[in-house]
Amino acid sequence: MNQFTYSYPVKVYFGEAVAKESLAAELNKYGKNVLLAYGGGSVKRVGIYDEIISALNEAGKNVTEFSGIMPNPTYAKVQGGAKLARDNKVDFILAVGGGSVIDCCKIVSAQAKLSEDIWGFEYADHKTPTKFIPMGAVVTAFGTGAEMNNGAVITNEEKKMKSPLWGAFYDFAVLDVNYTTTMPMKQVISGSFDTLSHCMETYFGTPRETNLSDEINEAVMRNVIRNIRATLKNPEDKFARSELIWASAMAENGILKLGKMTDFQCHMLEHQLGVYTDCNHGQGLAVIHPVLYQHIYKNAVPQFAKFARNVWGIAENGKTEEEQALAGIQALADFIKEVGLPTKFSEMDITDTDYEAIARSTIITGGCCKKLSTDELLEILKECK
Ligand code: NZQ
Ligand code: ZN
Repeated sequence: MNQFTYSYPVKVYFGEAVAKESLAAELNKYGKNVLLAYGGGSVKRVGIYDEIISALNEAGKNVTEFSGIMPNPTYAKVQGGAKLARDNKVDFILAVGGGSVIDCCKIVSAQAKLSEDIWGFEYADHKTPTKFIPMGAVVTAFGTGAEMNNGAVITNEEKKMKSPLWGAFYDFAVLDVNYTTTMPMKQVISGSFDTLSHCMETYFGTPRETNLSDEINEAVMRNVIRNIRATLKNPEDKFARSELIWASAMAENGILKLGKMTDFQCHMLEHQLGVYTDCNHGQGLAVIHPVLYQHIYKNAVPQFAKFARNVWGIAENGKTEEEQALAGIQALADFIKEVGLPTKFSEMDITDTDYEAIARSTIITGGCCKKLSTDELLEILKECK
């Protein structure tokens, strides 16, 4: 494995009905002025908002609301949140939602403390922010694991880029299975596929000699596959759902990435697709993964064969390593179909978009086993249509 230094700053509260107690324990550690951030209103419809407000009231907080954070949060929304935080002298941010709300707040927390524009600060000046408003996350939609890391994926509409920005780690994250039971099943499946994608994008990075990070990763992937099936069979199965929540966190808490350089080429391509189509992240990944893997597997046949055997249970049965590798990619494609995820962009209502611009603007990652060209990215997108 590569050299690494590991330390982890996020305190995690996990389980059924843990929200009330954990908020009571945490909120009194911070100042009075709280920015309460949430999305388009699901938290109000399902009763989570009322519980959060009473926790904030019990802790004697002054609350400023930052609502309407959209899926695929925009840079303009980040700037709006930063202004609210500054104007109201916010001491603490409580993000209540899925990856979009959680990501948006990471950058609000940094931008509110920074006089420069954070996009230019990070991308033009190559600096990273060091001052933040402290934050806590209450996860209501799992899959991204966004509560566990300090990267945020923000859509800059002017620049036509959906790119990672670096912000703060959350001080604490509340993973209460009861807050996720109202997620639409489509979001449960696409979110969980996102988790599987994070695992795969790590597994196919470098180095690829059998190592502890990859072996733990294989267990997480098998767990996600099993529990997606269990949740589809019985949406009330809280055990399966809570396993998916923890797997989502495990894929992004750094453990699987220790000693590895990650791939994330599928993600870079999907993010740019998101800028042009505002598509669902997990669904976009489901379409791209098997197609992109057909383009790269020849550069990492042993790892793809291991993925087939150890994750999908493909028996060797006299197959060559290349045949095993291909069987693994087929098993992934079959699973995507089985769980009702889209297999073509047309099934996501994407009929016409500027594929050339998407390919041209996609960041080429260093960890992918094959360095793809813009032409090949365009070919992949066309095969996904
Ligand atoms: O906006 P509201 O009304 O709250 O509805 C949301 C939204 O429409 C709804 N929802 C959330 N909790 C719910 C609920 N509906 C009913 N009951 C609940 N309990 O779910 C919808 C999707 O929410 P969103 O936060 O957009 O989904 P997700 O968690 O998949 O986040 C996607 C964003 O995260 C980024 C993606 O690119 C995308 O922008 N990612 C962040 C990552 C990170 N920071 O590590 C990693 C990922 O690879 C990903 O790129
Ligand atoms: Zn993702």
